[in-house]
Amino acid sequence: MQKEQFLYTIKYNSNEISMCELETKILFDQALQGNHFFSDVKIEPDSSAFIKKRIDILFATDNYDELLENIKTKDICAEGFKLEYEKLKGDEIGYKPRLNKLRDIGYIITGEPDYYNPTVTYALCNFEGVWYFGESIRDDAEWQKHNDKPCSFSNSLSMNTAKTLVNIASKGDKKSRLIDTCCGVGTVMLEGCYAGFNIEGCDINWKAYNHTTKNLEHYGYSANVYNEDIKDITQKYDAAIIDLPYNLYSVSSDEIVENIIASASKIASRLVIVSISDIKAIIEKYNLEMVDFCTVDKVGKVKFTRNIWVCEPKASK
Ligand SMILES: C[S@@+](CC[C@H](N)C(=O)[O-])C[C@H]1O[C@@H](n2cnc3c(N)ncnc32)[C@H](O)[C@@H]1O
Repeated sequence: MQKEQFLYTIKYNSNEISMCELETKILFDQALQGNHFFSDVKIEPDSSAFIKKRIDILFATDNYDELLENIKTKDICAEGFKLEYEKLKGDEIGYKPRLNKLRDIGYIITGEPDYYNPTVTYALCNFEGVWYFGESIRDDAEWQKHNDKPCSFSNSLSMNTAKTLVNIASKGDKKSRLIDTCCGVGTVMLEGCYAGFNIEGCDINWKAYNHTTKNLEHYGYSANVYNEDIKDITQKYDAAIIDLPYNLYSVSSDEIVENIIASASKIASRLVIVSISDIKAIIEKYNLEMVDFCTVDKVGKVKFTRNIWVCEPKASK
């Protein structure tokens, strides 16, 4: 029987599997297997692009009658509650028995149910013969509102990639200080601000700086944005997220890329670098060590793979 406090359900697109695996490893210290996992680490579902629900487990038992008795002892009184059955991989219980079980529990909970606008959602599920009951917190996808940001750019990172970069850089620690060194229109900053991270941004290009500022203001987020070359930033950060210019819509050269990485490594103790080229030699040159790596494929008119390199200084190891 699983003893962890939380059960997470996840979903990802096929082009994002490598990124989802790395996020799961970094946030939960476990390998991604299937579409759910148990953990004692508490993460808000809407701060990840892949977590769909977190069930805060109240009771776990392999005896269904005991589960009902346990729920009775809790005296749950919830006006407008919803109760749902979470079908996990390997659960062969049929539709009707599932419905009957929801009815059993529904009668134990005091209050009128509200399926469409619930005040609280409870979930029942069965994994490897064990019944789990708890409160279900879903990703309400409110962050999808960032799709309608006033200033966008066809080659910006996707919101899913932006959210994952923030999690990989911060390791889920909301107290960490982050900087998006090449913020473009602020895709990463929007996700960082939404999830409550302390994130700043920088872009050498005035138009990009202006677009980031407008986007942040539009959603009422307040965060420092610098219209500067990253080499001129002197404050220190726990991690830098670097979406390197790649000659598609912004100018790039080996020298520009090297300068950005060298400058960021002076101000941040962890670098999460996004590139479409192989930057191993540069990582080595600046005495950095690649501690993790993943990729994400861009789908659409222009198809290419972005590499995500997680680096830390060799000396600090
Ligand atoms: C690939 S774009 C970033 C796109 C951004 N992640 C987004 O989703 O909108 C790279 C950005 O790096 C900026 N840049 C290039 N050299 C820079 C430097 N030395 N310091 C700061 N920003 C720089 C460019 O102006 C460009 O906006």
